[in-house]
Amino acid sequence: MSLFAQISDTHLRQPGELIEGKVDTFACLAACIDRINALPQLPDLVIASGDLADSGSAAEYLRLKSQLDRLKMPCTVMPGNHDRRAGMREVFGGTPALPAQSAGHLQYAIDLPDLRILCLDTLDEGNEGGWLCTDRLDWLHAQLAGNPGPTMIFLHHPPFDCGIPGMDAIKLGNHQALADGLSAHGHVIGIACGHVHRSVFTTWAGIPACICPSTAHQIHLDTRADSPLAWTLEPGGFLLHRFNGGKLTTHVVHGPAPVATPYE
Ligand SMILES: [Fe+2]
Repeated sequence: MSLFAQISDTHLRQPGELIEGKVDTFACLAACIDRINALPQLPDLVIASGDLADSGSAAEYLRLKSQLDRLKMPCTVMPGNHDRRAGMREVFGGTPALPAQSAGHLQYAIDLPDLRILCLDTLDEGNEGGWLCTDRLDWLHAQLAGNPGPTMIFLHHPPFDCGIPGMDAIKLGNHQALADGLSAHGHVIGIACGHVHRSVFTTWAGIPACICPSTAHQIHLDTRADSPLAWTLEPGGFLLHRFNGGKLTTHVVHGPAPVATPYE
């Protein structure tokens, strides 16, 4: 059995800098870490699936690291469109948070006892949407071809539409190339993304897929074709993935640690 949490879109800024003048993303992340540390059964691992810093500066990653270091379990970091590889490498390179990578990109594999996780780098610097170049896709296919056991893929940009037009416009650009590649492998049991700042579940390319909420602000749920992109102060959260007996189950967790009262 493997139990691992996913946090996403922490968007850390410098002290005193609030997103849209209102969202203290550092405080939101601190609360999320408290919540994870208070889980009755601690996850083996936390994966932070991108947009971890808001501008990608090393100073922001140092603030991020100051909070991730409070976790009672290891945490690995992945890039999103707000991240910059140079800043991530400067702060996390050579540490367990950023395992050995494919050349040039921040892609890596994590081997849990019964599940392999492949973290992909969909960052296309200068663009909000994501991209997987030939090098990154070749790395993925080599990993899948060489390891036939159950595998889960993490990538910041969803390869599928969520129904919010402003986010669908900036999903993974070459999603069809990823779908075509995965069709050659039958052992991908799940896909986990960030980027959309909401909990979303679907099936894509025949594979169960989900999107993790942000620890901070959320994207407004408006699926009208002409809806403007907007943010909300709905509660942040994270996902808790459990792989047991060959099956993946995902829980959405919001809010501070509750008081649990046993039934009498
Ligand atoms: Fe984000």
